Amino acid sequence: MKGFENKVALITGSSQGIGAACAIRLAQEGADIILNGRELDERGEKVLQQIREMGRRAEFVVADVSKAPAVIKLIEDGIAAFGRLDILVNNAGVEKNNDFWNVTEEEYDFVMDTNLKGVFFGIQAFVKYCKDNQREGVVVNMSSVHEEIVFPHFAAYCASKGGLKMLTRNLATELAPLNIRVNNVAPGAIATPINKKLMDNKEQLESVLDNIPMRKMGTPEDVAGLVAFLSSDDAKYVTGSTYFVDGGLTYHYEEQ
Ligand code: NAI
Ligand code: BGC
Repeated sequence: MKGFENKVALITGSSQGIGAACAIRLAQEGADIILNGRELDERGEKVLQQIREMGRRAEFVVADVSKAPAVIKLIEDGIAAFGRLDILVNNAGVEKNNDFWNVTEEEYDFVMDTNLKGVFFGIQAFVKYCKDNQREGVVVNMSSVHEEIVFPHFAAYCASKGGLKMLTRNLATELAPLNIRVNNVAPGAIATPINKKLMDNKEQLESVLDNIPMRKMGTPEDVAGLVAFLSSDDAKYVTGSTYFVDGGLTYHYEEQ
């Protein structure tokens, strides 16, 4: 894909799962990479090493993106690492399974602050940098099919991803004059640690697969391919939308 040479991409929550796959894919395309997580553990070290072995530069910045000052500092540290930042992938996300009537303020804040507040202030810091330095920018937000379809017992998660949907549309319009593109990627059921419980429960997994026309879960690499496209110059006229990577989950309907 076009447009990754000499570019730097920062991917939040990139020690494992979809974030790690995005980091590796963008590095394969030719970008240098800023990884992030709440801590640098052996999973993060492994991704760092893998990217460096490809001949790309990579650094890991520890930050908890659910806190506005921390995510702002993450962007600043990311820019400082290689002297520029071109692509921001807001991937870090969490979910909490609970009946709506039992959800605590703590659970609500945990989900909303990570999935929406952190994204909001991370993009804000990136935009200030782009604006001050007259640079173009690309933002890809990791939303979910649940920005569109319901997910009972995950009300805060749905609210956070629904919020991302409107944030993206709003920012695409407001930031187009600055040459900053903003899009969402909406994965369906992807085989990552976030879905461990689901994958360990055969019955529950079958019922999820019944909702997926392709009858299988996706891989982190399936999502990373779409993120790479949206981050590339091949997508230079693409902004303000959500792109689904869900095996047909969202818009399926069948009669026996
Ligand atoms: P995961 O749980 O494997 O990875 C999430 C990563 O984000 C972890 O490395 C975690 O440590 C990091 N993270 C969480 N909170 C953080 C914070 N406050 N600061 C920094 N890092 C933090 O999950 P997965 O599946 O890779 O999810 C990535 C994104 O994709 C999330 O936004 C999730 O909502 C979204 N998604 C996942 C789907 C799936 O089926 N796996 C489907 C739809 C969306
Ligand atoms: C959730 C997963 C779920 C998938 C499909 C994602 O947003 O994080 O837990 O399996 O949507 O419902």
